[in-house]
Amino acid sequence: MPEPIASRAAAQAADEADPLGYARARFVLPEGRVYLDGNSLGALPTGVRDAVQDTVEREWGRDLIGSWNSNGWWTLPARVGDRIGALVGAAPSQVMCGDSTSIQLFQALVALARLNPGRRTIVTDEANFPTDQYLAESVARLLGMQLIRVSPHDVGAVLGPDVAVVSFSAVDYRTGQLWDAAAVTQAVHAAGALMLWDLAHVAGAVPFELDALGADAAVGCSYKYLNGGPGAPAWIYLAARHQDGADLPLCGWQGHVAPFQLDAVYAPAPGVERARIGTPPVLAMRSLDAALDVFDGVSLLDLRAKSLALTSLVLGYADALGVPSVTPRDPARRGSQVALQLPFAYELTQALIARGVVGDFRAPDLLRLGFAPLYLSYVEVWDAMDTLRAVLETEAWRDPAFATRAAVT
Ligand SMILES: Cc1ncc(COP(=O)(O)O)c(C=O)c1O
Repeated sequence: MPEPIASRAAAQAADEADPLGYARARFVLPEGRVYLDGNSLGALPTGVRDAVQDTVEREWGRDLIGSWNSNGWWTLPARVGDRIGALVGAAPSQVMCGDSTSIQLFQALVALARLNPGRRTIVTDEANFPTDQYLAESVARLLGMQLIRVSPHDVGAVLGPDVAVVSFSAVDYRTGQLWDAAAVTQAVHAAGALMLWDLAHVAGAVPFELDALGADAAVGCSYKYLNGGPGAPAWIYLAARHQDGADLPLCGWQGHVAPFQLDAVYAPAPGVERARIGTPPVLAMRSLDAALDVFDGVSLLDLRAKSLALTSLVLGYADALGVPSVTPRDPARRGSQVALQLPFAYELTQALIARGVVGDFRAPDLLRLGFAPLYLSYVEVWDAMDTLRAVLETEAWRDPAFATRAAVT
């Protein structure tokens, strides 16, 4: 790892040498804002507007129902799925796009539990994103199983002959900790269990190798680092070896082997096609499809290197300010975010937003800053940290206006 960037001049030099510098022009970025919330909602790629407008006006407005065939709406979920798969180490025909991450978690958890019958335990992370825990709890109840919560770090302590499925997020949404997915998957498999990864904070920011790891299933959203837009459809990965044995609980008509035969009885399609559920949200999926163009020609290694350089800059600056962080120092264990821990993190987040530095707050005490390497410059991140320093020095965050909690934090 190179030394962290420790001055504005060094940040400027890094921008001049940035092999991804060209990618910023692929986004619409509002003036006067440093957007450090691409881990919640990615910025708008330039091609999205025209793509969605074309889908609305020409495909829907003119071609109407024929668009399912002539404009490729029917094959869109699989095509977009393959494009996402390429960013997370999945060979084609293993990823299907659609629905929400929560729904895909339900699909994957039940399918994996059914692939491993006789075992009665599901394991998830006690710090997993709430929806991952809630769905695991519900699936355990539904299938008469038990749920155990444990940190990925300690998974070895609970693995045994009764564990059917282990479901973890590869990057902790609060701390930004990147777990050792290879070691975890290997341990899970050695115990005879199946591994489900949630890649919400990975896809588009951290290279991942689903096939090489031997992961059994994965899910993720596409409104974060994939920049698909608010409410963009999620995705599910089903390893090729499991597809024809996978008994997915949400067996909608589009996953039927012959959907237009309109049979009364369900018979699943072969391959990943069975992971379709109902009619896909075409407008949102076209937005995502166009958004994925920003990754064209991008080296994921360059992406990772820049992400780490940005987070290292921020951690170094925070150290100099004496602000504690819960994000791992070890670059190999860090996703693409930095979480700073302060008792007044909510007020601080609001004071920063008022000054054009957009991060978010995660209860109870984290200021979370996400780094999307395709559209951030080193200098603006340096300047954002200067703004943080000024807000702390002047205690501007104490303004009572910053204490009012909005519905979304
Ligand atoms: C790890 C993880 N999983 C799932 C979700 C959200 O699920 P959904 O897309 O169903 O809202 C998030 C949202 O931030 C997340 O961080």
